[in-house]
Amino acid sequence: MDFSKFEKVIVKQHDGISWLYMNRPEKKNAMSPQLHYEMDEALELLEGDPETKLVVIGGMGGNFSAGQDLKKFFRELEDKPAESKKAQAAANRWRFERLWNYDKPTIAMIEGFCVGGAFMQLLSTDFAITADNATFSLSEVNWGILPGALVAKLVADACLPRRALYYSCTGEAFDGHEAEKIGLVDKVVPHEDLEAEVEKLAAVLMKKSPAVLRATKQAVRQVRTMDHNQAFDYLMEKNMAIRFHDERFNMQSSYHEGLKQFLDEKSYRPVYESFEPVPQLTDQRSDDD
Ligand code: COA
Repeated sequence: MDFSKFEKVIVKQHDGISWLYMNRPEKKNAMSPQLHYEMDEALELLEGDPETKLVVIGGMGGNFSAGQDLKKFFRELEDKPAESKKAQAAANRWRFERLWNYDKPTIAMIEGFCVGGAFMQLLSTDFAITADNATFSLSEVNWGILPGALVAKLVADACLPRRALYYSCTGEAFDGHEAEKIGLVDKVVPHEDLEAEVEKLAAVLMKKSPAVLRATKQAVRQVRTMDHNQAFDYLMEKNMAIRFHDERFNMQSSYHEGLKQFLDEKSYRPVYESFEPVPQLTDQRSDDD
């Protein structure tokens, strides 16, 4: 797949992982309308790309993102309602709708600044790993707005309640260790280990059945707002749906394969690892595609 037409986005691909970088390093990857349009299109392409098993979202030049571009996204669009609406739609689509419902697993890789509007993609990806020396800030309160789009909602849902309120209301900056402590990211690591740690998590995720992984992440997100009866019913149906998707798209029954490898072959232990994917199934899937 050719991504060379993009300017504000860079895609690097190897071993099933697509590394999707915001690319305005001279502006600390502050997000302009063009960057939003390109991220939206790139994510759409990668979702349908058979070579892509997992997407990592990062930023070029040592920073994740300094949030919305205050000049290009806010001030310059103030008197242009149509353009502003179009840019907002793209911004919200890739940072929330696409990532939240993405078919493939996604990981946010955080270093340098991660500010304001960038919390959207940070919290809409499935997993997030940060460098210890990264700088997080909900800076909105410092320049006259609140954490809009869905930032306040995502932060309130993900983080310890008093910390969500504290950082939203003070705008105080915090580091990777604090981000992990309050539930904003999964893991904090020394900066020099960041990429390796992301690759390690990617390898774990890519060994699992894509159908089972997709359904599991959807289920954990959906049940938050359901009552117990709804959740019980939904989860039962979702489990049935996995069987269909597994057989239709992966040419396997993960359930039967997983049980067989543990009970009959005694070749793995589910508490510590995933069952071994059956190699010819991947070939069959590409033939079908
Ligand atoms: N919007 C527009 N431009 C931004 C930006 C943003 N969010 N964040 C950084 N930039 C620009 C700076 O204006 C500067 O541009 P210039 O070289 O043309 O002057 C360039 O990026 C480098 O930033 P600079 O401020 O010089 O770097 P720094 O290391 O001293 O500080 C930040 C970095 C991120 C702390 C600081 O730029 C900042 O506070 N930015 C605003 C972040 C913010 O509040 N974002 C929330 C938006 S929702």
